[in-house]
Amino acid sequence: MSVPKPPKGLFIKTYGCQANVYDSERMRDVLAPLGYAPVDSAEAADLVVLNTCHIREKATEKVFSELGRLKEMKQLSGGAMRIAVAGCVAQAEGQEIMRRQPAVDMVVGPQSYHRLPEMIARLSRQTGDILEVDFAAEEKFDALPKSRQVSGPSAFLAVQEGCDKFCTFCVVPYTRGAEFSRSADAIMAEAHELASKGVREIVLVGQNVNAWHGAAPALEGRGGDWRLGNLIRHIARIGFERIRYMTSHPRDMSDDLIDAHRDVEALSPFLHLPVQAGSDRILKAMNRQHTAADYLRIVERVRDARPDIAFASDFIVGFPGESDKDFEDTLGLVKAVGFAQAYSFKYSPRPGTPAAGMQLQVEEAVKDERLARLQALINEQSQAFNTATVGRRLPVLFSRAGKHAGQVLGYSPYMQSVHVENGAHLSGLVAQVEIVGASMTSLTGRQERISVVNQEASA
Ligand code: SAH
Ligand code: SF4
Ligand code: F3S
Repeated sequence: MSVPKPPKGLFIKTYGCQANVYDSERMRDVLAPLGYAPVDSAEAADLVVLNTCHIREKATEKVFSELGRLKEMKQLSGGAMRIAVAGCVAQAEGQEIMRRQPAVDMVVGPQSYHRLPEMIARLSRQTGDILEVDFAAEEKFDALPKSRQVSGPSAFLAVQEGCDKFCTFCVVPYTRGAEFSRSADAIMAEAHELASKGVREIVLVGQNVNAWHGAAPALEGRGGDWRLGNLIRHIARIGFERIRYMTSHPRDMSDDLIDAHRDVEALSPFLHLPVQAGSDRILKAMNRQHTAADYLRIVERVRDARPDIAFASDFIVGFPGESDKDFEDTLGLVKAVGFAQAYSFKYSPRPGTPAAGMQLQVEEAVKDERLARLQALINEQSQAFNTATVGRRLPVLFSRAGKHAGQVLGYSPYMQSVHVENGAHLSGLVAQVEIVGASMTSLTGRQERISVVNQEASA
């Protein structure tokens, strides 16, 4: 029997995408046996982890300014506080971080954080910093604890890591490494673990999640290769109320996945499918490997399979060489699809990516203007989409308390946030709600008409 260790405060600050959110949760699981328990602020922590994002320049800058603040806190703690930098900036700029900020004790890449306990042990024996930035996704997943601590009714499950698409603007293939799919058996085991902890919604995550592929689990008997659609069908049988997956690449929207949208009731009628641009010339320069017409065809096919589906997307404005005409094509594509939501970004040149060295970089003022126009159009579409749900009854997954007493927040199958007054008892449940109001960013639901779908969850 191991002797219980005194609790130590752990504070993890997460930047970037859902893969980082998953990784932060798993770091908590890895560190729990060492006696680390989450605290609410860096000041109260013995170990602070910044789980960082390298996707745009601004994201990276934030890390260095945050490290400046932590350095002062560390001095106030008499040097006892430990600081670790994890995530994609750690992978891309590990040496640079150590050089620029000596207060950092450990740098750990996205495929190496299962080694944190051993790194912490080494830290107590030696002076100087420790850097672990190997690409060992398979080893990481094998080494992570099977048990998961969950918080709330929804949980992320990483099914794949890395990306082989090499879009010319993107750092992910360099920070996360080559595409690696976890085995169906390992994913199913983790899904069962989450279900046993009361999770109602499972979100399959990865940098390019629909590239997932793997051998059918041994127990299935039929053998053969699976794609994401097969995996989703299988996970659905566990009995989750909702299944989502993100983020996908249009090239990997295979037939089996589109069929899953037709057949699997629990699969959310919401698809985040980044397109980046509406001009074929720019899509080619981005190495997206599809045209605008290909994208529209996919949208149509998914809509045929699941008529109530809503789409979300990501856009980049001001990619090198983007002309006014190219940008108009992007607006045209947005109008043709009609998005429920979309994220748009100004192109940010990233070190080491092909696009950073391209001629004809677009001026900042032009990027600003295009971003404002695109966002205005997207906002109009989001508002219209939200307004169209007023009067409907929607199943809402209530995940947390709202700002004022009795208010509860959740989200609809279309990922609209929904708030309801006097509904504290609904937290953690899926309930049918009548939508009575809409803004660009959220919906108001009426409590009187609520009927709880899954009463057993509160038992
Ligand atoms: N794996 C996902 C997206 C990862 S990054 C996919 O392939 O869709 C999330 C979003 O950030 C991208 O969809 C893109 O819109 C944006 N992005 C990535 N690199 C960028 C860059 N250099 N400048 C601006 N935005 C970028
Ligand atoms: Fe980056 Fe493209 Fe891979 Fe997405 S598909 S992670 S944008 S390289
Ligand atoms: Fe950022 Fe890395 Fe995700 S660069 S978007 S945290 S994969």
